[in-house]
Formats: sequence, structure tokens, C-alpha cells
Amino acid sequence: MAAEEPAAAVDLSKMKVNEVFGHLCATCHGKQLDGGQGGSLIDGEWKHGASDADLFRSIAKGNLQLGMTPWEGVLTKDQIRALVIYIREKEKEARFKGLTFPVPEPGKVVKTERENYVFEMVVEEGLEHPWAIAFLPDGGKLVTERPGRLRLIDAKGKLHPEAVEGTPEVMAFGQGGLLEVAVHPNYTENGWVYLGFSDGWREKVPGKEKSKVSALTAVVRGRIKDHQWVDQEWIYRDDKKFYGSSGVHFGTRFVFDAGYLYFIVGERGGLEVAQDLSMPQGKVFRLHDDGRVPTDNPFVGKDGALPGIWSYGHRNPQGLDMDPRDGHLYDTEHGPRGGDECNLILPGRNYGWPVITYGMNYNGTPMTSETYRQGMEQPVTYWVPSIATCGLSFYRGDRFPQWKNDLFVGALKQKEVRRLRIIDQEVVEEEIVLKDYGRVRDVTDAPDGYLYVILNDPDCIVRLVPQG
Ligand code: HEC
Repeated sequence: MAAEEPAAAVDLSKMKVNEVFGHLCATCHGKQLDGGQGGSLIDGEWKHGASDADLFRSIAKGNLQLGMTPWEGVLTKDQIRALVIYIREKEKEARFKGLTFPVPEPGKVVKTERENYVFEMVVEEGLEHPWAIAFLPDGGKLVTERPGRLRLIDAKGKLHPEAVEGTPEVMAFGQGGLLEVAVHPNYTENGWVYLGFSDGWREKVPGKEKSKVSALTAVVRGRIKDHQWVDQEWIYRDDKKFYGSSGVHFGTRFVFDAGYLYFIVGERGGLEVAQDLSMPQGKVFRLHDDGRVPTDNPFVGKDGALPGIWSYGHRNPQGLDMDPRDGHLYDTEHGPRGGDECNLILPGRNYGWPVITYGMNYNGTPMTSETYRQGMEQPVTYWVPSIATCGLSFYRGDRFPQWKNDLFVGALKQKEVRRLRIIDQEVVEEEIVLKDYGRVRDVTDAPDGYLYVILNDPDCIVRLVPQG
């Protein structure tokens, strides 16, 4: 049991993690965690074990001989877990302090571990909150703008001044709007363009000034003729009862494979709904590319389960792609604070949200100490502190031979593109290849062999081109 109870009668359960640290730990470990009577917690040196589990044990069990209080009994497991995340955040911050990444400049060469590239501007002006890009066989490109517009860049690289007319109305609020765009793998024959967006409606609430929005992720396909959206078909539009007013976690991101379409419906801020197979939120879906449910989906015929579900227990995936070498599907999920994940997505599996997570609440209150549970999947890798993952792409091209089949991960908050090398479903290398130009909304390889990056703030599209 704890040797010393905290002196003043403060309610620890309501405290944010930085307050808990300030209250209980700072006297010995320093306000900046840089040490005092107790050691530094940010110098990367751990006398009593360096893993998360070791830190957890150090805090819970303490070491009375050395003068470290055992905190179990005073703090809950969830609070101790939050402290571990907090220490990790500060440790990372300290490691990168003073380290500057060369901010890429158009035309300048950026050197990375395996390839050097020139950062080239594709569209510098005229886009508002671009979200995704798709490549047409003639060299043209389609770009979504979150407020609800589909834009065309012609084969010569010129942005058409007008949006494509007649695309579906979207609920543009919060993180919602027109999100994903992709062209069918047989686009040349069938002309299908797929859009993912927040679908829904607004209604007046009597006596209230603001109208109420109800929204959910939806998928359509259509064709573009004479700059008009035509032949529209709904691919995925779920029951109205699942529509909700939350403005967060819509998902989308499309992967086509063998006649199937994979896409994400985020958990819409609903947490536990991600575990409920009778609800679409927090799931990866697999449908035929025309919207029919494949009869061999994992939950087909299971009582109460939605048959389109491929995997569940997801929070806010914002990246999805398939390994060209072995057909394994990966996602990146925007976790809570400290819980961003990259997952190998297998049919029928449970990815654990919100039961297990490596994160805590954004405001620094604890969520759970559980990072592992039988019957739930562990991520391939995770990021503590969070990088705010967004956009995900394997590199299939030939122009960067040393990057072939590597996985590129975008990050909004950290303004990064990271390169992961995956061998046998394990991450064996991780490197930041681009940093600090803008928030990375999407990263994708392209038929021309370059790597395209969509940035927000500044809103632009750039590409990485081999040097020389
Ligand atoms: C009364 C002083 C004191 C307080 C209060 C205190 N610690 Fe410690 N802590 C120590 C000492 C001393 C050690 C052992 C350092 C060593 O072995 O050199 C230690 C060790 C640790 C370690 C292991 C460090 C390593 O190198 O492996 C962690 C983690 C830690 N403390 C976290 C905390 C946290 C979190 C709190 C607040 C909940 C806290 N401590 C409060 C004095 C304290």
C-alpha cells in the first residue's frame, strides 16, 4: 500500500494527467520531468526497465528503499497508464527538442535514408481543404474538397475553375464533407468514379436557432460527362437510424481488389458502438464494387450483425491500403491521445476500440489501462505520442526503387509523411521523409510513379520526384 497518501484532500480522479504529475511526482522528478531527488524521466535512460510495462510497474510498485513511492492504491491502473503515456510524450518531446527537420521547399532536394527527392508543387492555389486525389488514365486527376466539391486537374496540370456539377449533396460540418474519391480499376472500360462522404440532412428544431444535422458515411459511384456527374448509383447508404449529429470520425478511403470494395465507417465519436456488430460505426466494410454484400463476408448469417462488416472495433481510421506483395489490408487509425495505430486488417477480427487502446482522453484524463486483451488484435505498430495519422499508401512505382513496396503514412498534427518498411507483416524500418510543410491529409502513389501528398494549411498538392 502507499507509504504516503497525498497530503491535501484533492480529488485525483478528476485530475488531468499533467495535474496528477504536478501534484504527486514533480517534487521528486521535476516539473519538466528532468529529475531531482528522483531520476530524470525524459533522458531515455531507464534503470528499472524501459518498456511501458516496466514504467507501469515502477510507478505502481515503487521502490521504498530508493525512495520511490508505490502508487497503486493511491492511483487507479487507468491513471497509472495515463502517466506512462504522459511520460512517453515528454520523453519524445525532449528527444526531438532542438532537432530541426529541413522544411521542404519546392525545387530543393531533400535527402532521406534511402532516396533523395525534389519537392514539386502540383497545385498551389485554388483548392479549399483538399482531401483525396484519384488519377485518370489520361494523366488528369480528380480532387475532393471537403466543403463538397469535386475538382478536375486536366492532363496538362491545369485546375478546372469550376467544380464538377451535380455531385451529391454532402453534410459539410465538423470533419464531414466530401472526402474520398477513387476510380474503378477498370475505369477505362466502365468510367466509374467512386465518392465517399458524409450523407445526411438538416432539420429545424423548434425554439432553437441552430438546425440539427444527422449524418453518416456513404458511398456512391457515378460517371463524369462534360464536367457533369451522371449515372449515379448508391453503393453504401445505411439505415437512417444510424445517422447522428456528431461531426467526427467518418472514415471512407477506398481499396479495390478482385471486384470488392473495402472502405471505412468511423465510430462517429460513439466509442462502444465500435464493438456492436448491429451498427455500422467503427467498422471496415467489404462490398462488391456494385454495392452487393458478398456472401462469404465473415458475419453473413450471424444474428443481428450487419453483413457488410469485414472487421470491427475501429475508432477513426483515416488510411487504408493493400500490400501489393501479398494482398494484406492495412489501416491507420487516428487514436485518442497517444493511441494512433497501424493495423493489419483481417476478416472478422476485433481491433479493440474502446476496450483496449494505447491512448488516453485528449484532455489528459485516463481511459483504460488495458492495451491487450484475448480475442482482440494488437496493432502492427502504434504511436505514443500521437502523430494524427491520415492517408496511407504502399509505393508501387519504379521511380524510387529503394522505396518499392514501402508503406507511406501521413500525419496531420505532426505534419509528416513517414515511411514504414513492412516485412512479413512487421515494421522493420520507420523514417520521417517529409516534415513541417503542412498538415498531411493524404499520401498516395500514382500511376506516374511519383508520390503525391495532399496538404491542408496551406491547402495544396505536392509530389515527390526523384532527384535528377
Ligand atoms: C518521494 C520522491 C518521489 C516521488 C514523489 C515520485 N518518485 Fe518516482 N522515483 C523516485 C526515485 C528515488 C526513483 C528511483 C530512481 C533510481 O533508481 O535512481 C524513482 C523511480 C521512478 C521511475 C523509474 C525510473 C527508472 O529509471 O526506471 C518512474 C517511471 C517513476 N519514478 C515515476 C514516478 C511517477 C509517475 C510519480 C508520481 C506518480 C513518481 N515517480 C513519484 C522518487 C520519487
